[in-house]
Amino acid sequence: MRDKPIGVFDSGVGGLTVVKQLAKEMPSEDIIYFGDTARVPYGTKSPPTIKKFSIENVLFLLNFDVKLIIIACNTSSAIGLPFLSKYFSVPIIGVIKPGVKAAIRSTRNGRIGVIGTTATIASKAYEKEIKALNPKIKVYGKNCPLFVPLVEEGWAGDDIVDIAAKKYLADLKGKKIDTVILGCTHYPLLKPAIQRMMGKAVKLVDSAEETAREARNLLEECGLKYPGRRAGRPRFYVSDAPGKFLTVAKRFLGKDVKTAEQVKDV
Ligand code: DGL
Repeated sequence: MRDKPIGVFDSGVGGLTVVKQLAKEMPSEDIIYFGDTARVPYGTKSPPTIKKFSIENVLFLLNFDVKLIIIACNTSSAIGLPFLSKYFSVPIIGVIKPGVKAAIRSTRNGRIGVIGTTATIASKAYEKEIKALNPKIKVYGKNCPLFVPLVEEGWAGDDIVDIAAKKYLADLKGKKIDTVILGCTHYPLLKPAIQRMMGKAVKLVDSAEETAREARNLLEECGLKYPGRRAGRPRFYVSDAPGKFLTVAKRFLGKDVKTAEQVKDV
């Protein structure tokens, strides 16, 4: 059981921010990554569609006999996780709880901003998690639907991101928040532009690190962590032609992804 891989999925390349942290936290684990590049973005779709995609992604990863599934997508975590963990026996974790814990640790004035896709913000999943832990905290959400396509297009470092950030974040800037949760796994790549817009004093919380830590704790608790030392192998699968994924993936992982296999039927 401990030899088995960890399954990770996202709608596209964003979940690679989580893969990068997993490789740091547990370098001996094998990882199966699935990016649903044919159907990205999820964040503009309705909850029933997001649920359907999430179920299909879990079923795909189960073909590899994974010991844990990480939903490295806030949209799927917000809409699909409560439902998925009821129906599958494999442990499944998402990125929302870890991000919330980190944000609550970070805030000094109890005012937290959350940015994410339209579906994530509409679900109020972050607000509910934060309020469950500390009802006094004020939460301000803002959807930023163009951020995901900009990242998928490979334009994360382009000045077009500054223009979008200015438009999306102007309201949040007036709310005196001291912490912003990057509630989408694509957004860590846009950190410089978001930080420029929000100001240096605002802490940006990225859930990838915290999610990797939670995955490690869970595997240790269940006695499922790979016990020895080896170089864990990541394998990548996508639902569309892999060309653009391979180019953009390098920016997320900081190293080349040589191959990604296209899956015909998810
Ligand atoms: N990385 C996904 C998330 O965290 C992007 C969602 C999308 O495909 O719109 O929500």
